[in-house]
Amino acid sequence: MSTETPTGLSLNLAPGGIAWVTLNRPEKRNAFDAGIIAGLTRMLTRLDQDDSVRVVVLAAAGKHFSAGADLHWMKDTAAMSKADNEADALALAGLMATLDQLSKPTIARVQGAAFGGALGLICCCDIAIASDQARFCLSEVKLGLAPAAISPYVVRAMSHRQARRYMLTAEVFDAPQAQALGVIHEQAPESELDTRVDHHCRALLQGGPQAQAACKDLLQQLDNPAHTQGMGHLTATTIARLRTSAEGQEGLQAFFDKRPPDWRDDGGEMPV
Ligand code: ACO
Repeated sequence: MSTETPTGLSLNLAPGGIAWVTLNRPEKRNAFDAGIIAGLTRMLTRLDQDDSVRVVVLAAAGKHFSAGADLHWMKDTAAMSKADNEADALALAGLMATLDQLSKPTIARVQGAAFGGALGLICCCDIAIASDQARFCLSEVKLGLAPAAISPYVVRAMSHRQARRYMLTAEVFDAPQAQALGVIHEQAPESELDTRVDHHCRALLQGGPQAQAACKDLLQQLDNPAHTQGMGHLTATTIARLRTSAEGQEGLQAFFDKRPPDWRDDGGEMPV
């Protein structure tokens, strides 16, 4: 069965209880706005409650996995009240928590670019498999923003030490580096990605669903920075403040103008 949703997502339920959730807004590089965030959160919650679903695969249509948060949406938050802006930012933290805490095994299937918030989605999945040509970037500071909602999950995956480097430089890193950092588990030629996903799905179907849910619950309790008291509020207020600041608004406008923001004097271009 295949179900299209109106929010840039599609859902395909494959035999064996494999649910393929696909980011489906390739013309905007699968950037996610408030509608997609809400729709994806609802879809994941529904799949988690469905006993016939055994594994959730998070995939993306087109050349790229995702360009992260929709920068138009980010920019438009300047017109919101402080309370609405913070509530809106909390929704992204909620999506990350929902994916991270799903009781069923999850697999990210990654091709092309995975920038900004996309790295959060990947780090919230249990298994991440990427094309050997994939490119990753915590690009937020180049836009006058910070990787906020995703930070607990990215730090957990790549370590605090590595996050200091990649969050502050916003440098692009390749699939071998992503694997060395622990952001992905394996890389494969893009033409073999589905075969690799299928291999992991078949392995996951050998395990007991209750036992896997218990493993995931245990892992949530062990050393999980996402559980730090007040983390959701901290990350939401941080991004809400930055995206409506003069620096954030300048960085976002510069992206759409295809020019360097005013704090740069090197005449360089945005990372690609
Ligand atoms: N939000 C909104 N629109 C976007 C985004 C985004 N994050 N990323 C790309 N788009 C749009 C572009 O504006 C463009 O729209 P247009 O056709 O109307 O001009 C279209 O998608 C295609 O984008 P290109 O840049 O031309 O695509 P390309 O394939 O050359 O590059 C790449 C893809 C590398 C992902 C590039 O689009 C990019 O760098 N995007 C920004 C990624 C980023 O920094 N994300 C962090 C967001 S902040 C956060 O997640 C918290």
